[in-house]
Amino acid sequence: VLTAEDKKLIQQTWGKLGGAEEEIGAEALLRMFHSYPPTKTYFPHFDLSPGSDQIRGHGKKVVAALGNAIKNLDNLSQALSELSNLHAYNLRVDPPRFSLQFLSQCLQVTLATRLGKEYSPEVHSAVDKFMSAVAAVLAEKYR
Ligand code: HEM
Repeated sequence: VLTAEDKKLIQQTWGKLGGAEEEIGAEALLRMFHSYPPTKTYFPHFDLSPGSDQIRGHGKKVVAALGNAIKNLDNLSQALSELSNLHAYNLRVDPPRFSLQFLSQCLQVTLATRLGKEYSPEVHSAVDKFMSAVAAVLAEKYR
């Protein structure tokens, strides 16, 4: 469960990313494709080379969706409802827990390398909880 302190840290951390969303999203995706190659199978229609328009564009969308979630931390299920439908019914990203965890890990490494010391244990823990909450919502419609 996200505490009030976690929520504050997440919001502050996101506030520091201003303008770099596309780069951060693209880096997280590239890390995921490298470290967990099976995740590439969901993107057969993408050019997966570093810096491709598709990776940049998609990275931006993912980080924007997370930014929107951060504005709705008390209401994540509703804020992510459409994305949840998309991933569960249309994309069938599977097994959801695994792939979602990979992306979450890769995003955290990306943030850590950018924020350095500012990615403190407290921030790390808050972001980890936040990403688990997002993953839980994105996975909740699977059966
Ligand atoms: C599409 C967010 C995890 C595969 C999308 C879109 C967003 C998004 C915002 C675009 C939706 C639109 O265009 O309307 C997220 C978030 C995730 C997540 C916030 C978790 C934190 C994953 C994972 C995979 C995945 C783990 C697979 C490994 C896809 C695919 C698309 C998509 C294949 C469609 C891409 C396209 O054809 O443009 N996701 N996603 N997503 N996502 Fe995710």
